[in-house]
Amino acid sequence: MRRRRFLALGAAAGVAAVPGVATATASAATRSPRLLADPSAAGASDSLRDLAARIGLRVGTAVIPFDLDTPAYAAVLANQFSVVTPGNEMKWQVVEPAQGQFDWSGADRLVSFAEQHGQRVRGHTLLWHNQLPDWLTTGVANGTISNSQLMDLLEQHIFTEMGRYRGRIWQWDVANEFFTDSNPSGINPNDFWVSHLGPDVIPRAFRWAHQADPGALLFYNDYNIAGEDGSNAKSDAVYQWLQQMLDQGVPVMGVGNQGHLDTQFGFSGERMTQDLQRYAGLGLKVAITEADVRTFVNNATAQVPTDNLAVFAQPYEFGQMMKACLAVPACISFTVWGFGDADSWIPGFFTGEGYATLYDVNLNPKPAFSELQQDLRLAATGAPRRVHT
Ligand code: XIL
Repeated sequence: MRRRRFLALGAAAGVAAVPGVATATASAATRSPRLLADPSAAGASDSLRDLAARIGLRVGTAVIPFDLDTPAYAAVLANQFSVVTPGNEMKWQVVEPAQGQFDWSGADRLVSFAEQHGQRVRGHTLLWHNQLPDWLTTGVANGTISNSQLMDLLEQHIFTEMGRYRGRIWQWDVANEFFTDSNPSGINPNDFWVSHLGPDVIPRAFRWAHQADPGALLFYNDYNIAGEDGSNAKSDAVYQWLQQMLDQGVPVMGVGNQGHLDTQFGFSGERMTQDLQRYAGLGLKVAITEADVRTFVNNATAQVPTDNLAVFAQPYEFGQMMKACLAVPACISFTVWGFGDADSWIPGFFTGEGYATLYDVNLNPKPAFSELQQDLRLAATGAPRRVHT
């Protein structure tokens, strides 16, 4: 495996097309320079969310709801993003810290912020081996929770959580990170859920989820499933599994590729485009759900890259991911996993690494921000018109 494994721990966009751009006829275009929509025109702005809205895409971020108390953070969030994911606050460990005792405070806060700011929500995540409550894992380990009780608890968890936010979540990551990083890849038999309940737990979760909130788009979410592993083995395995699920009528509606990249590894934007395209060929929506691009830094506080070339590679790889999404019409959202380096999970999980997001530790936009902005601007309005003199 080339890539270091990291600690695995509704309705359509509702956006108006840009008049005159997509509809310009070929003959008109050849006769005279195309009149391009100006992104600074009234009613539009250069924000990521407004540029993306012109082409029916949503740009999102993971959010730490507690950070909404910081006005500068809340302002960037509201101005730049049109879809939000709670980084942790919908995970089972957080919402049910003691059995039968719920804490929805973070999730509630983010969902209402989103509604106040015209943003949609990606729910994350219902079925995952990480960040499970201690009472659950301990109970399973010591035998006080049997496998059939575990199945019942999962069903209850899905109905409780999805029921609470029914109709208010655009996309739900129903299942997260079930495939191995080996070649060939497959569903990990040692996964907490699979080892206790068998691989059928995944389609069951999707069926419950569809009953719990029939309007939500239900996603399978994983990392390195769009060519990042070099061999494409993980993508192949996920693709085959998705085909099976769809053949069996399981309500899987989308695939999320997390998009956690690292400048020290190679990465092919073409491969990512092809992989997203073949998922889309199954009739599925696709999304980039947790994009960040990490690199080695001087320290976790300042997060200055130690390799001068990393300042070029980092925005480049962000741009490659965005271009892959833009090239595939079924790609409905592009979400970054936090927008500021100060809030990123990277320094805490990858020793010596950081600089993984769009804004620096002082919340100033970095070249990666401009890269995404340019990609979106070109996609939305075409290349700026050159005047021949
Ligand atoms: C991360 C969070 O950002 C951290 O705050 C937390 O400590 C661990 O989990 N893949 C996922 C996300 O699907 O849920 C993870 O989020 C990052 C990797």
